[in-house]
Amino acid sequence: MSLPTGHEKHVAVRDMFDRIAPRYDLLNRMVSLGLDQSWRRLALDLAAVGEGDRVLDLACGTGDLSEQAADRGAIVLGVDFAREMLRGASARGIAVDLANGDAAKLPVADNSIDVVTCGFALRNFVSLEVVFVEMHRVLKPGGRIALIDVDRPESAIVRTGHSLYFDRFVPFLGGLLSDRDAYRYLPESTAYLPPPEELRAMLDKAGFEGVTKRRLLLGAAQILTGAKA
Ligand SMILES: C[S@@+](CC[C@H](N)C(=O)[O-])C[C@H]1O[C@@H](n2cnc3c(N)ncnc32)[C@H](O)[C@@H]1O
Repeated sequence: MSLPTGHEKHVAVRDMFDRIAPRYDLLNRMVSLGLDQSWRRLALDLAAVGEGDRVLDLACGTGDLSEQAADRGAIVLGVDFAREMLRGASARGIAVDLANGDAAKLPVADNSIDVVTCGFALRNFVSLEVVFVEMHRVLKPGGRIALIDVDRPESAIVRTGHSLYFDRFVPFLGGLLSDRDAYRYLPESTAYLPPPEELRAMLDKAGFEGVTKRRLLLGAAQILTGAKA
């Protein structure tokens, strides 16, 4: 898939996730070598998600983060625009509310959420700036964010190994077990992620303070945290 923008991207991304939803969890575990769930746990730890917190799991997909947050006693709302991904979340039978909605226009009241989580979805949004402003709007003052996404390692040697794995092996595996185009898009879509300083500047501008980036697996993934000023 070439990299679309604007409304074309919105539709292409939604249709793609609707297509790959049935095997999404399986591929996630395989592609991340089983590490994705521990990264989600770490994100929830970093945002100190606990009993009674109102958590918005943005772009919740099949509900991995939502489930972990609910296991901690949080009151969770998962929002996603792909109905088939939400169907996967709903099939878990977990105690979370799920809503079909767009991250750019959240069906959530102002100042009502303690923590916004977002797993592996930043690069899929049409406008990160708009989504960051939405996150900020729905959070209570002092509310936290924990955003996980892929990243590109800084070291040239690590980058070479990572590229072989992520740019070659992952699309091959995805083609075998799911949808070749979708798993070709996965590495290509990292191009949508702005450089770290720009990402941080966007979060600052949206009104977040204390923005911190934690690098995972030699820079293959990242968790961004911060709080609503
Ligand atoms: C890679 S999946 C991540 C799912 C889940 N957060 C996880 O940790 O596995 C990205 C998700 O973002 C959702 N998504 C992308 N753009 C969205 C938007 N504008 N509004 C709502 N959901 C969106 C997709 O439908 C998909 O479920």
